[in-house]
Amino acid sequence: MQKFEIQGGISVDGEVTISGAKNAVLPILAAGILATTPMTIRNVPRLKDVKTLSAVLAGMGITVDTNDDNDISIDNDTLNSCCAPYDLVRTMRASILVLGPLVARYGEAEVSLPGGCAIGSRPVNLHISGLEAMGAEVTVHEGYIRAKAKRLKGALINMELVSVTGTENLLMAAVLAEGTTTIENAAREPEVSDLAHCLIAMGAKITGIGTDTLVIDGVEALQGCDYSVLPDRIETGTYLAAAAITGGRVKTLKADVQGLDAVLQKFKEAGAKLSTGKDWIELDMRGRTLKAVDIRTDPYPAFPTDMQAQFMAMNAVSQGIGVVVETIFENRMMHVAELMRMGANIRLEGNTAIVAGMPTLYGAPVMATDLRASACLILAALAAEGKTTVNRIYHTDRGYEKIEQKLTGIGANIVRVN
Ligand code: EPZ
Repeated sequence: MQKFEIQGGISVDGEVTISGAKNAVLPILAAGILATTPMTIRNVPRLKDVKTLSAVLAGMGITVDTNDDNDISIDNDTLNSCCAPYDLVRTMRASILVLGPLVARYGEAEVSLPGGCAIGSRPVNLHISGLEAMGAEVTVHEGYIRAKAKRLKGALINMELVSVTGTENLLMAAVLAEGTTTIENAAREPEVSDLAHCLIAMGAKITGIGTDTLVIDGVEALQGCDYSVLPDRIETGTYLAAAAITGGRVKTLKADVQGLDAVLQKFKEAGAKLSTGKDWIELDMRGRTLKAVDIRTDPYPAFPTDMQAQFMAMNAVSQGIGVVVETIFENRMMHVAELMRMGANIRLEGNTAIVAGMPTLYGAPVMATDLRASACLILAALAAEGKTTVNRIYHTDRGYEKIEQKLTGIGANIVRVN
């Protein structure tokens, strides 16, 4: 298994070019199932999760080609199965995103239940109940979801919880349904809006994009399109956090300035100097004191759960006491124990962490438990005194393209070792 060895105590300084958003390219890849003609997706990050979903599509007989720029073209004319098997779905639960498009386009789907992951049980009941509301017959048996529908019918769906992929699955089901579908309490994440814009480029009729009520008028067929995915706001926030935690400066290029308001506000509260342009954000922490901030995660546009671990690391070496409350996932605090191995002073009460900032952390061997926990530990290692070894970095490779190259580019001392 590979690991990162990081020599801490260096203030990063430089520019990072941001890649396409993992959580936008995954639903957009699944949307390729809906198209009656080939489609091309650009600004695709080189990530394991993208490879996994491409393998799920290829496993159904869909032709998936990638060029040297990592643009992906999809042609589902060769589709010969509507099954997403357990051995692939279990490695990447977002594979559930093929469920809605398969039922909408081919009238059937057989998708392995994604199962949980480290951060929670990750149920998909809202995906299933939404499809049933649209007239699909759904059974869950022996670990598989089987769904059938001659043609889905428009329905009024009120999501009991805000669910990003739940909203995306039902949006993709509704675009080919007969009649109008209204999704209330829809997720408003920029990645959901990016999917909606892609579907409109394919000929879908959607209004309410970016609000909590999406109205979709079903159409007979959708064409392929040529679509460029929006930049990854969580990757952007992670590199800005590298500047904040090391007292350095980072300018993120090709960034999505709109999608990070709640996070930028917290960086300012933490004492950072921020400047933004049309497609760049710069955070400067040189000569400034990192202050502890209180964080409470909630659905967009509130503070995103995918930035919680990164701010936990910042709080660990800040001045003051920061309270971090995780409201989205039941088990997204596993990075706390690893931070404490580095000398962090954190008291965990359920999903609330009380973090008393320390003057410094100390390098140690630590273990990544999930994608954003691995980002947290890398950030802590950059600020810590001495050497840190971060194990199980396959988690990192799921969501951060070329992370060691990008960090080395801003002066960090990080190497990947087998
Ligand atoms: C998406 O996961 C993201 N993944 C996650 O990013 C992100 O953390 C999460 O949204 C929240 O923003 C992708 O987009 C591929 P949810 P998703 O459905 O859609 C409960 C990362 O680090 N729920 O919005 O699976 C669920 O248990 C990953 O990039 C149900 O109860 O999350 C959770 O408590 C991690 N029933 C809450 O809703 C359902 O049917 C929000 O989950 C669906 C969800």
